[in-house]
Amino acid sequence: MPILTLKAVSKSFGALKVTDDVSFDLSDGEALGIIGPNGAGKSTLFNLITGNFAADSGQIFLDGRDVTRDSAMKRCESGVGRSFQIPQPFGRLSVYENLLVAARFGGTVSAADAPDFCMDILERTCLAPQADREAVGLPLLQRKRLELARAMATRPRIILLDEIAGGLTEPECRELVATIGKFTLPARRSSGSSTYCMPSTASSSA
Ligand SMILES: Nc1ncnc2c1ncn2[C@@H]1O[C@H](COP(=O)(O)OP(=O)(O)OP(=O)(O)O)[C@@H](O)[C@H]1O
Ligand SMILES: [Mg+2]
Repeated sequence: MPILTLKAVSKSFGALKVTDDVSFDLSDGEALGIIGPNGAGKSTLFNLITGNFAADSGQIFLDGRDVTRDSAMKRCESGVGRSFQIPQPFGRLSVYENLLVAARFGGTVSAADAPDFCMDILERTCLAPQADREAVGLPLLQRKRLELARAMATRPRIILLDEIAGGLTEPECRELVATIGKFTLPARRSSGSSTYCMPSTASSSA
């Protein structure tokens, strides 16, 4: 059974039909790239999957369960992780505290386990030296790393990385891709691998 299934999902903003009858399956361990020019609807599609936007019609299934009406919070708890195209950290919290929030509230990690759990993700995303630094002042590559780290801290089964490498230089992009590769490890809610879904504008290398 696919982890994620979209069936004829549509979404309009006023007269603008952005998502038009979109259907696909995503299998355990599969990486799917969503490619399209600026304004094509990539972020909108992600927001529909995460529950940040409500679909006008169609259905979204996670592990065969209809989550179309579930809130973003509930979908996160069910294993839908995401990063934001424009990083959305809690700016005045430290890098570590940002992970703690994601782990405790998104990933339902226990208070006792959370410190080690978060430090492990900080190590894997190369953010450990920045653990006590306020998120607001991080340079772009580290903000992107923090987006990835926050998403992973929610213990996702599927992770949606929205232009995670957008705005980075080629060498930075390669560094980040290598970091993402460290997370093709068994995810906690599954015996298989995390599933990735990454959009990119057609003209970018992200
Ligand atoms: N909340 C919203 N209200 C109204 N229109 C919106 C909203 N969100 C997106 N749109 C419009 O929907 C279209 C698709 O936007 P979306 O951000 O999904 O595209 P995208 O493929 O992610 O673009 P980019 O490559 O620039 O990130 C655009 O025309 C955009 O202006
Ligand atoms: Mg976008």
